[in-house]
Amino acid sequence: MGRRRREETGGGVPCLVSRKSCLLVVVLSGAAVPQFAQYLLKNSRMVGIPKQVERFAKFSPSPLSMKQFIDFGSTDACEKTSFVFLRQELPVRLANIMKEIDFLPDKLLGTPSLRLLTSWYSQSLLELVEFLEKDPGDKQALVTVRNRHNDVVPTMAQGVVEYKEAFGVDPVTDQNVQYFLDRFYMSRISTRMLMNQHTLIFDGSVNPAHPKHIGSIDPSCDVVEVVKDAYEASKMLCEQYYLTSPDMEISLVNSKNPDQPLHLVYVPSHLYHMLFELFKNAMRATVETHEASFTLPPVKVRVSLGSEDLTIKMSDRGGGVPLRKIERLFSYMYSTAPSPVHIDNSRNAPLAGFGYGLPISRLYAKYFQGDLQLYSMEGYGTSAVIYLKALSSDSVERLPVFNQSALRHYQTTPEADDWCMPSKEPKKMGK
Ligand SMILES: Nc1ncnc2c1ncn2[C@@H]1O[C@H](COP(=O)(O)OP(=O)(O)O)[C@@H](O)[C@H]1O
Ligand SMILES: [Mg+2]
Repeated sequence: MGRRRREETGGGVPCLVSRKSCLLVVVLSGAAVPQFAQYLLKNSRMVGIPKQVERFAKFSPSPLSMKQFIDFGSTDACEKTSFVFLRQELPVRLANIMKEIDFLPDKLLGTPSLRLLTSWYSQSLLELVEFLEKDPGDKQALVTVRNRHNDVVPTMAQGVVEYKEAFGVDPVTDQNVQYFLDRFYMSRISTRMLMNQHTLIFDGSVNPAHPKHIGSIDPSCDVVEVVKDAYEASKMLCEQYYLTSPDMEISLVNSKNPDQPLHLVYVPSHLYHMLFELFKNAMRATVETHEASFTLPPVKVRVSLGSEDLTIKMSDRGGGVPLRKIERLFSYMYSTAPSPVHIDNSRNAPLAGFGYGLPISRLYAKYFQGDLQLYSMEGYGTSAVIYLKALSSDSVERLPVFNQSALRHYQTTPEADDWCMPSKEPKKMGK
């Protein structure tokens, strides 16, 4: 179950070096002449990229509601309708975010990782434009595009590490990169969702493990079951590395139908992703804070269904984080650590990644109009809260659009702080 869920979110252990060197081998090796010729051929087609970006970025993306996703996939779903929607919508979403990529700092765009990543986007836009003329039954183009982008997150993280190592971090770049990456990853979550829905729904078979699922959506997602799955997966990792793990205590409040289980129309793989990340953090903090004691305080999870929100609160007693640092935990630039694969002696590695656990989980929550927030008491522990929309009619995709407001974000020059900075030396008031 856990593995299947993870695959759908497109996460995975980064394998950057091999992919990049693979591309270089194709380009440089004399033995790979046919591929080289192909590469050149493709590059000549890449000349047309800016035109296609301009063509499709003129349109705003069209957010879908959970209800529309379900309708697209219900029994009388029409593959043609879905295809006609996708062949416009996918290039539009890609082109909108490609316009923003251009506003990243040149030094970041110039890193090998970013060059590789932008080439994937250009290639995929071209292929999707060709897909316009294809037969609606042909899903291979979508599968190819989706798989090409499997490693976008670790590749981007690697680019940020390369940039940081060469140029350091400053608050202005951090702010711009944060703004961009939240939008960039959200765009990616959304395009993967569209491609997954189309390929899963119209592949002509029913998922035997989940016959009621509509693509990746469970119309009756049992929240507690997903909490337990994520807990078990994280517990396994924790025990592997610390030889111990905290218990979980779970409590439910169903304000609408007391004693009824908590169900929601949702993408279980997205919910699993968020919970798994939060459990890993909570367990690591708990074990490390209580290393010297015989017992570990449990991780407490409370799930509550109201008329508007479904809220999941996970509380640990892992020592907490000072308020000053909370915002940075969501920062892509400040918290990016080199991928754990490269760290020697990384006892904690499987429970910690490169610092993208929280920011990406928050995006999954926000994608259908929810949120994820951290509340911490330094010296005691942390509560992470996931907010989801209880009603499927409120669960509508939240998508970035490239417009004047977005442009202004990138063009704003840093202004002086409008709050006084405390001086380091106290003024000698007596003189
Ligand atoms: N529950 C928690 N208790 C204490 N610290 C936490 C907790 N959750 C997150 N953190 C801190 O936030 C950092 C970032 O978390 P995350 O985004 O999941 O990245 P990673 O786990 O890969 O470092 C963690 O390294 C940890 O220092
Ligand atoms: Mg983490």
